[in-house]
Amino acid sequence: MPKVLISDSMSNVAQKIFEKNNITVDVKTGLSEEEIIKIIPEYDGMVVRSATKVTKNIIEAAKNLKVIGRAGAGVDNIDVPMAKEKNMIVMNTPGGNANATAEHAFALIMSVLRRVPFANETTHKGQWEKKNIKGTELSKKTLGIIGFGNVGVRLSNLVKGFDMKILVNSKSLESRKKDYPHVENVSFEDLISKSDIISFHCKAPKDGKPMISKEHYKKMKPTSYIINAARGNIVDEKDLNEALNEGLIAGAAVDVFSKEPAKENILFNNPKVIATPHIAASTTEASIVVAEMVANQISDFLLKGIKLNTV
Ligand code: MLT
Repeated sequence: MPKVLISDSMSNVAQKIFEKNNITVDVKTGLSEEEIIKIIPEYDGMVVRSATKVTKNIIEAAKNLKVIGRAGAGVDNIDVPMAKEKNMIVMNTPGGNANATAEHAFALIMSVLRRVPFANETTHKGQWEKKNIKGTELSKKTLGIIGFGNVGVRLSNLVKGFDMKILVNSKSLESRKKDYPHVENVSFEDLISKSDIISFHCKAPKDGKPMISKEHYKKMKPTSYIINAARGNIVDEKDLNEALNEGLIAGAAVDVFSKEPAKENILFNNPKVIATPHIAASTTEASIVVAEMVANQISDFLLKGIKLNTV
């Protein structure tokens, strides 16, 4: 009977699916790398979210591991090249949390444009900042979406009805353009100079270099906003902070950081920044869907050799 380790907290739906499929499952969360190395040789499959870093050392120790499943989209916490070298399959659950992430990106957009966190905090303190808070509307503005996968597409659909122009920067969009007549695919340079709100929904660049840095902010509208609910290292945080302080752009809302958990960050306490702790995908609905997807995919692979959503 195959044996699977769930090493990050997730919906217990995953555990139930494994049990129903007669797969032995252990849920052991919060383990250190050393602790995982000790137990991993027992397992055929491993399920993670983002907390467990599946390192080279873990993969080398995992003598029986055939599959690593990520309940979520990003696999940057897994050493994928190393896993492939050891003939392990790595799977994710694309689309499983796309709506949750797009909705959070939209919440960030509305919050930063209408200064909701500041309004909330000051009102609770009994300060009446009515005269000092003036928002910006979405209507007639241009939304620039960088990356047009599941999340980018969903965000573009969510803002239909807000009377916005939508620009997209995506290599893969060209071949499927006819499915998305409501967006226009443009170059990165065009997108950043023409958009009022720029929202990142792409993977982090493989070379680790930020996609947007100081030279780009100089080309943007001083009234524009940056939204990042993708990965922290897409944006150079020091440059973003400077751009905000120098008035090159108006504000930013970020859910992801170059180093997580972010206990400190250069953007913290900048009044033009709204920050949330990588919760874009954290909804009741999405956590069930990704747990279901990953458990079904791993079961199908271990029991029938079916490979779905491999990366
Ligand atoms: C993902 O990659 O699926 C999201 O960033 C959510 C997460 O990592 O928890």
